Amino acid sequence: MYSQKVMECFMNPKNVGEIENADGVGTVGNAKCGDIMKIYLQIEDNIIRDAKFKTFGCGAAIATSAMLTEMVKGKTIDEAMKITNKAVAEALDGLPPVKMHCSCLAEEALRAALWDYAQKNGLTIDGLTPPDNIHEEEHTADSGEN
Ligand code: FES
Repeated sequence: MYSQKVMECFMNPKNVGEIENADGVGTVGNAKCGDIMKIYLQIEDNIIRDAKFKTFGCGAAIATSAMLTEMVKGKTIDEAMKITNKAVAEALDGLPPVKMHCSCLAEEALRAALWDYAQKNGLTIDGLTPPDNIHEEEHTADSGEN
């Protein structure tokens, strides 16, 4: 059901924990499954220097958190804004359709953390909208497809 990469990221996830005095923190949850994801970013000179996460959730949620935090490190804010849940899922060699919503949580948590950073610094980030912290989507095969 899961790719080897998902299993690796789940069994030995990188970037678990929190960043003290993080520049941006984003928390999102899915109301249906109860999973919660929190992403911490350290940002300096418009570049994401470090990223960590705390996820209370399923294996796919943990794997996508770990992969996303790896993917954003060293990226500019604009580059990070282009990371989609599908890109995270692809980096994991795919997710089962019923688990795509878990990757949506990762994308949303990243955006919520960037939103927090922007709010704290009086910035506007192109394409960034206020976070929708609680997702109501169902665990269906087509969730996360749009
Ligand atoms: Fe809900 Fe994975 S985030 S089951």
